[in-house]
Amino acid sequence: MATLLNTIEDAKARDICREHGDRPDELLEILHSVQEAQGYLTDGALRTIAHALNISRAEIHGVVSFYHDYKREKGAAQTIKICRAEACQAVGANDLISEAEKHFKTQLDGKSAGVALEATYCLGNCALGPAVMIDGELYGRVDMKRLLSISDNHKGREA
Ligand code: FES
Repeated sequence: MATLLNTIEDAKARDICREHGDRPDELLEILHSVQEAQGYLTDGALRTIAHALNISRAEIHGVVSFYHDYKREKGAAQTIKICRAEACQAVGANDLISEAEKHFKTQLDGKSAGVALEATYCLGNCALGPAVMIDGELYGRVDMKRLLSISDNHKGREA
């Protein structure tokens, strides 16, 4: 099938679709890969993916808005996910969240250019709460002192 030039608004998204054989059943993996490569999903990327997979824009927007992990805007430099499910709450997750909000001058699930704090509900580390995830890495028994140390460590890796 010939592809019109004006349907490729995002060359990286187009390449990723091609790597997945332009298969609509691989939409979630494609969205993850595009977001990983570019940080978030632009309108141009979504239009490119919709065209490449021959699905409607409404369908792709429905999928993106359903899953919390997909970002539609440029995110913070670092995202810290803090578990606030029952087991972690029982060992101080809410206090950790309050302290982190104060320290990073942001709100849970709010927007921030520096550090974004996100609530998550069970990271499968219930025996070692409060549990936190940064850059896909899981940490247990996290208090504020440890959170700052972990956060700095991850920032150091990016530099
Ligand atoms: S309740 Fe927090 S990791 Fe399971």
